[in-house]
Amino acid sequence: MLVGEAPGRQEDLTGRPFVGQAGQILNRFLELAGLTRDKLYITNVVRCRPPGNATPTPTATAQHLPLLRVALEEQHPHTVVTLGATALAALAPDARRLTACHGKAFYRDGRRIYPMFHPAYAMRNPAVWPLLYQDFLHLHRDPPLPAALHYRIGTHGDAAALATSGIIGFDLETTDTLRGGVFYPHEQRILGYSVSAAPNESIYVPEPPASPFAEYLQAESVVKVCHNAKFEAQLLAGMGITLRHFEDTKLMAYLLGHFSTHLKDLSWQLLDVQQLRLDDVRQGRPTSALSPEEWLPYAAADADVTLQIWRILDSDLQGALRQLYYEKELPLVPILAHAERGGVLLDTACLGTLSEQLHAKVDGAEKHLARSL
Ligand code: URA
Repeated sequence: MLVGEAPGRQEDLTGRPFVGQAGQILNRFLELAGLTRDKLYITNVVRCRPPGNATPTPTATAQHLPLLRVALEEQHPHTVVTLGATALAALAPDARRLTACHGKAFYRDGRRIYPMFHPAYAMRNPAVWPLLYQDFLHLHRDPPLPAALHYRIGTHGDAAALATSGIIGFDLETTDTLRGGVFYPHEQRILGYSVSAAPNESIYVPEPPASPFAEYLQAESVVKVCHNAKFEAQLLAGMGITLRHFEDTKLMAYLLGHFSTHLKDLSWQLLDVQQLRLDDVRQGRPTSALSPEEWLPYAAADADVTLQIWRILDSDLQGALRQLYYEKELPLVPILAHAERGGVLLDTACLGTLSEQLHAKVDGAEKHLARSL
């Protein structure tokens, strides 16, 4: 069973779901996945076209949900494919963001749910096409069983012992810095850090880095794999520690064109690992109120999956992109970290002139384009 969002114009006119442009795309993907429409039940969360083709409101979704439930009872589908965020929210309100959970089946109320992007979204975002294609191909694949994890609370000495392996996943945990939507980086304090040297093994040290581990952060001989190393570099600089010889999986994922560069999304997509969410751990409390035991499963996983993801991205990153990463992007990290910490002086008069020049160029280009059409 496929569940879309709401009828568009064509669907409203014909009374049939997915017969317009989005439907044509859907047909192509179904064909690629060896499926035909006559084998499927296709419907929408909301059964009438919302004014202005807008996304259905939660109220509209709630009003139409009983109809969807009847269809589910009658059809008894093996799998319910939700197309887009509206359908996913209607059938699994607590599910993760679609960028994190698409293409991976899960079970809800005894039903197998398979979230996918909406074909209309793919139409507007070409980067989503390969994801949608891949998700259709994997429609019948269930994620593997979770691996046994060896996560424990450790000391700076334990962390130093892991560092002697030569390459570690490394991640810092901090106090909250977002209040009322405003970021206060200068108030951020390090609560602890995690280190991993092998898949599914990781330690969480519930203190800011100190000797003998801190020396390894500054050592060229050990590679520190971080996800968004700018964050780690900035915080460590505040402690007088210079992060040397690091890698950055967020930058790599960005260069490789991954649709989402969030660690949680990448671990789901690349490793089939569904990581805990910080919100689930903190349950409304500030991060400083969490005990080391509460931090452990969340924090240790970050270092663990970062190192695992790095191994995959490192083999994918080749040629000119690899050169760009090592020669331009990574060297910029400490510079940006420094600029963000200390602020940067801006020549506003010069920026104003540049902006005017740019606008004039854009206007000229638009006029040129209009004349040549
Ligand atoms: N988009 C939808 O979500 N449903 C349709 O039926 C058509 C377009």
